[in-house]
Amino acid sequence: MSTLILPMPGAETLARALAAPAKLPLGALDYRRFPDGESYYRIACEPKDADVVLVAALRDPDAQALGLWFVADELRAMGARTIGLAAPYLPYMRQDARFKPGEAITSRTFARYVSQAFDWLVTVDPHLHRYASLDEIYTIPSTVVPAAPAIARWVTAHVKEPVVIGPDAESSQWVDEVARLAGCGSQILAKTRHGDRHVEITLPDPDRVSGRHAVLLDDIVSSGHTMAEAARHVRNVTGRGPVCVGVHALFAREAKSLLTDAGAARVVTCNTVPDATNAIDVMPDMAAAIGKMLQAGV
Ligand code: R5P
Repeated sequence: MSTLILPMPGAETLARALAAPAKLPLGALDYRRFPDGESYYRIACEPKDADVVLVAALRDPDAQALGLWFVADELRAMGARTIGLAAPYLPYMRQDARFKPGEAITSRTFARYVSQAFDWLVTVDPHLHRYASLDEIYTIPSTVVPAAPAIARWVTAHVKEPVVIGPDAESSQWVDEVARLAGCGSQILAKTRHGDRHVEITLPDPDRVSGRHAVLLDDIVSSGHTMAEAARHVRNVTGRGPVCVGVHALFAREAKSLLTDAGAARVVTCNTVPDATNAIDVMPDMAAAIGKMLQAGV
């Protein structure tokens, strides 16, 4: 049985990193945009009878998601045996409830969409808040690759006497694990969100960060407001700018300058979303998870 790693447009670097450890063959996809905005896709390799791993960079999901369906559909028409989705960043996880009548629960609909197109899914730390696992919304087998081991290794190597701090309750799942693996303390701050771009951090415990190097950790840095408010607070309390670590570097336009202005000593991220701040390599762990999924013969 053959395996083929196939990058969606924009995911070529990710696909190479995922193919390298097991020396898996890389396929090619021709892609272009028509002047009217529609897309052209051509699978420029032979997927017949292959287990295909479609690698997708989904930082900009509305622009990328429809293409997943087009490509998966053509792969099936060409005789692919199975098609898995390797998406280091899984979008549309944060709207996990209907807070106002009529709000679309986009996480559910996106999960149904992906589950209909693919046979399995591998991703890194999806935003699981009100869902206990992806199985609540995805009907295909999935593997969640934790970024915590790679982050803990980085913290241990780069930060002396660290204390890991999460900006809100949701971050405790990552913060506690990184602190445990790095053998240091942790603390969770309280977050009050007043709107899409206004977040207030309250109730830090100064004694637990005093004299230590604070490492702020969150799964997603998007507008940057959550991390920036936490960084400002920690800097005021400790007199020292924290190291800011994000798993997924979504970074809206002004996010990095917000973090710098808030006193972040350094901003680092995992390489799930390509960005200049990527310093923590989670691709070997993701490649291993893909290998197991392929071996399981889903
Ligand atoms: C949501 O709760 C996530 O864990 C992050 O805290 C959030 O997505 C960060 O968003 P922003 O950077 O826009 O404040």
